[in-house]
Amino acid sequence: MTPTNTSKKQKLMALLEPTGQGHLLAFWEELDSVGQSSLAAQIEALDFALIDALYHGEIDQPDWAELSRRATAPTAVRLAERVSGAGGDLDISDEAAATRGVEALRAGKVGVILTAGGQGSRLGFEKPKSVYPIGPLSSASLLQIHIEKVRATAVRYDVSVPLYLMTSPATHDDTLRFLAENENFGLVADDLVVFCQGTMPAVDINTGKLLLSGKDTLFRSPDGHGGTIAALAASGAIDHMRARGIEQLFYLQVDNPLVPICDPALIGYHVLAESELTSLTVAKHKPQDKLGNFAMIDGRLHVIEYSDLPDDVAELRDEQGELKFWAGSIAVHIFERSLLERALELKDTLPFHIAKKKVPHIDTTGQQVTPSEPNALKFEKFIFDLLPAAKRPIVVEYAEADCFAPLKNAPGAEKDTAEYVQRMMLAQHRSWLESAGADLAAGVDIEISPLFALDATAVAQRIQPGQKFSDSTHLRP
Ligand code: UD1
Repeated sequence: MTPTNTSKKQKLMALLEPTGQGHLLAFWEELDSVGQSSLAAQIEALDFALIDALYHGEIDQPDWAELSRRATAPTAVRLAERVSGAGGDLDISDEAAATRGVEALRAGKVGVILTAGGQGSRLGFEKPKSVYPIGPLSSASLLQIHIEKVRATAVRYDVSVPLYLMTSPATHDDTLRFLAENENFGLVADDLVVFCQGTMPAVDINTGKLLLSGKDTLFRSPDGHGGTIAALAASGAIDHMRARGIEQLFYLQVDNPLVPICDPALIGYHVLAESELTSLTVAKHKPQDKLGNFAMIDGRLHVIEYSDLPDDVAELRDEQGELKFWAGSIAVHIFERSLLERALELKDTLPFHIAKKKVPHIDTTGQQVTPSEPNALKFEKFIFDLLPAAKRPIVVEYAEADCFAPLKNAPGAEKDTAEYVQRMMLAQHRSWLESAGADLAAGVDIEISPLFALDATAVAQRIQPGQKFSDSTHLRP
């Protein structure tokens, strides 16, 4: 070993030994200089104090069970009030909201944040989830559908609508390649900013030791969609928003092709209520639905994740027999840009959530370990933890059929499979056509490209009452 290598190893050891992480250098002598430099850089970038504090629970983890017992249901703009035009607690009618939303859109003040850091592994699809061919007849990918909605919005309001697309190290290169192969699905270069989220290491549950995925590589995984905030700044995306005069950001996650991207009513409620963070909600069907739960805790709005809500609390009902925690989060929000900037000034105060997960790794002898039980702690930030910091946050209820069919599970699961998502897409498109007066034969499936018609209103403008559809078709421009 050369003297420089020895001193490099000694320097790293001085960093690692006091924190009990010396095992990371177990294979140092076996590595070539490239491997050594790479491992050294990964170690030097670690925040040991943070990892240690997270492992030892010194960074307080909220006691969600206790908090949820004193939480109350959120006030929300309910669907029934929206439909009846009553206006609800905020005294804003749906019509007024939609009109105000259109104004914001026409003024070019709205951008879109799409988080696409996930792989399709849970679906048995070893690629970014965004490239999954979900279109029931077209096989269009999730990403294509979202991008075409953004483009159709831009055309409708005669503005440009920038898309901020977040990837993770696991999906970044594949996503860029897919976009390049498909010419960004027609989005002009200046309206697309692709940026990559950060990562966090994982530690062994029993020892707190950092895990290695290879002899020169620390195991790291995406830092959660809460990582969006830091990544917006690190990538310069936030400067792009500022330069373009974007004030509201419509946020969605890539797995749900039903999201009504840039829906004017949601934007309008947000602007008229002077809210810094507006969230879309759907009413839960069952207490244990796998949705985050909107709840008020000590006067602040929060999302309590389904895995953190105890069953007995999830089952509580009000006098009308409705679930107390009825308001499910589908991970669709509108952020005021100034809230994102404030979060950045405060050095991104989102807390880490700690999850027990199965993490494959190598042991100290270099053998590959594939655990069958959770063996590691992973650390993630959640974007909805910005809610308690937001001024005048509001929640607006939508009908599930209009906004939510996420692709989460492999075939065979009860819900949220590709087959389920496609069925929901076709049902939505059929209902748009039928309300426009079209005549669809039984068993005929029509998929509508967002570029043909973005929503029911656009379908009504393109379809003649009585128009017959006797064969399954993909309607596109
Ligand atoms: C998530 C929400 C849940 C909500 C549900 C609606 C969390 C913790 N929970 O549950 O409240 O009701 O969606 O569908 O989010 N992503 C990244 N980077 C990350 C992590 C996630 O980009 O580091 C994005 C990806 O687009 C991914 C999506 O977030 O597809 C959802 O994340 P996932 O971990 O699948 O959350 P769910 O358990 O489905």
